[in-house]
Amino acid sequence: MNLFRNIQDVRHYLKQERLKAAREGKVLETGFVPTMGYLHEGHASLLREARRNNDLVVLSIFVNPIQFGPNEDFERYPRDEAKDLQLAEQEGVDAVFLPSVEEMYPAQTLTKITVSQQLTGGLCGASRPGHFDGVTTVVSKLFHIVEPERAYFGQKDAQQVAVISQMVKDLNMPVQIVPCPIVREEDGLALSSRNVYLAPAEREAALVLSRQLLQMQEQVNQGRVLTAGEAREALLLAFTAEPLAEVDYVEVVRFPDLQPLGDSERIALDGEILIAVAVKFGSTRLIDNVILSKR
Ligand code: PAJ
Repeated sequence: MNLFRNIQDVRHYLKQERLKAAREGKVLETGFVPTMGYLHEGHASLLREARRNNDLVVLSIFVNPIQFGPNEDFERYPRDEAKDLQLAEQEGVDAVFLPSVEEMYPAQTLTKITVSQQLTGGLCGASRPGHFDGVTTVVSKLFHIVEPERAYFGQKDAQQVAVISQMVKDLNMPVQIVPCPIVREEDGLALSSRNVYLAPAEREAALVLSRQLLQMQEQVNQGRVLTAGEAREALLLAFTAEPLAEVDYVEVVRFPDLQPLGDSERIALDGEILIAVAVKFGSTRLIDNVILSKR
């Protein structure tokens, strides 16, 4: 497995690999998985999906400072390079790109990518102003460095998938965005690098998220008719009954345009409906969601 810390080096490697393939009359297709490291099974599932459908798999590990707010956890975001490289190796990654902050953001950068508030103003964007500008800016930089045919993103961050898909479409970026399902622990908790922050009692309490969301998904799949208002209220009630939980948002929106459903609107499965929640347990903010669609 190849490890690169500089933009120039990873570009050189990719160019050589593509030239080598071209000389044999082949087109080398690259699958790219951008991450912030502290890798878990969720990240591994993206790597496996990339491995299945591409000649070359590139993983990036970069805790991107510009997507963190001033009072967020950039400094204490968990990091474990050695363990990440081991997982990458196990998953058959060809190249890992692990740049420093200085490499990605030298002295002064004056350009950023902004996707309209229509997509970035609600859900996580409402409580994390500027977050999605940071995400779209770094992802577009990474796309220009790696030039992948396909890039893999988890539905765990459903708004991120919607925002990046819009950016790629609007700016004609030649990359296919492949959304991948949420990977959960056996007890339902969605895997997240931030789960390590949870004290045992908080982790136990956090199960309320997946329990409620998956139960609601099950009920709708079984034909229960529910309005968006009823869904929001039921979830809010369950979360506020949990003493360790502090609700940030509970939203019912169309996917992928993220337009909220009115309270009296039925959750009708003629399109995809995203039920997304963000809840704090102690100082740890967790997100989870389900996408309801016709099966
Ligand atoms: P990070 O939180 O490290 O996540 C990297 C990718 O893994 C994202 O696409 C995320 O949705 C996916 N992922 C995380 N937990 C998952 C789970 N339980 N199941 C399935 N997929 C999961 O998202 C980011 O980093 C950053 O914003 C990034 C896109 C790298 C830009 O900095």
